Amino acid sequence: MSDLHVSLGERSYDIINRRGSLAQCGPLAAKVLRGKKVFVISDSGVAPLYGDTVLDSLRGAGFAPSLLTVPAGESSKCPAQLASLWEALAAGGVTRSDCVVALGGGMVGDLAGFVAATILRGVDFVQIPTTLLAQVDSSVGGKVAVDLEAGKNLAGSFYQPKLVIMDPDVLSSLPDRAFHDGMAEVIKYGCIWDEALFERLAALRNRAGIEAVVEEITTSCCDIKRQIVEQDELDTGLRMLLNFGHTFGHVYEKAYRYETYTHGEAVAAGMVAAARLGEKMDHTESGTAARIEAILQSYHLPTEINAPRTAYAETMNLDKKSLGSDIRFVFLERIGKANPVRLSKEELFAKL
Ligand code: GLY
Repeated sequence: MSDLHVSLGERSYDIINRRGSLAQCGPLAAKVLRGKKVFVISDSGVAPLYGDTVLDSLRGAGFAPSLLTVPAGESSKCPAQLASLWEALAAGGVTRSDCVVALGGGMVGDLAGFVAATILRGVDFVQIPTTLLAQVDSSVGGKVAVDLEAGKNLAGSFYQPKLVIMDPDVLSSLPDRAFHDGMAEVIKYGCIWDEALFERLAALRNRAGIEAVVEEITTSCCDIKRQIVEQDELDTGLRMLLNFGHTFGHVYEKAYRYETYTHGEAVAAGMVAAARLGEKMDHTESGTAARIEAILQSYHLPTEINAPRTAYAETMNLDKKSLGSDIRFVFLERIGKANPVRLSKEELFAKL
């Protein structure tokens, strides 16, 4: 058992990280929720696997749960799906004391979180992340959003959950590609914050190695994210470090229309590109990119993705770290230490 507490004043909450916690979600949620109705939002991939367990546990704890299922895939994280969930909750008689539960990966968490943040101007929200990526990143810290035609996560909000329940057992049902997708974000924490974690991940070598100690690894990642979010909940400074590898990663994802590469795969190649650029511009200790490449290869993640030159400007102009003709770019000083640096986009594009 390795639980954490995110301290954000009135918006504080626990992260429960325990084997078997999925089947205990009812009693765990009962400690923090006020109302009776619980709208569990999930997707067509996850609901058949875990929907009954979650609903049974909620019923057993005295809640009146209902399950709303959206099609699996990023295309469900859109304004039309958001509106149809608003209507479903309204038709289900939602009141201010009721609750939305997100049961699934990052797509479900972001969408359900935005529903919770906006229906009746905000109802209680519980995250039950079922992917490695969602457990170590998107379920913690309160970023909720939908995608627009112009780009990912462009309409959203900060809305902290009342509780995060993560069950390490659910990760064993993930296909290899989805597990490795999450490993990119796990490795990112080692890169930006904790060299010992980076070395440990390198020594664990593969999925089997990680799974043997997965609770410790996910707790280490969430603890880093907790420290960052506690200092910069609204993403005006330190939290930007979590975007290491993401500036280029978003370019790759978008250039391939979010079809060819998963988020983690794009971020993996983005971390190598950022480290190479950092070495070229003397922001990063030499040899850093090679160390990142080696660890990514052991987790079957790409170390290089090509995108047309026009894709860089197109994506970066919409980047949240963009400041007119400049951008705040996250460089590693070395493994375990990251710094944001303000650069002109022109200077950056010239080095690509
Ligand atoms: N996923 C980046 C953040 O939560 O800030």
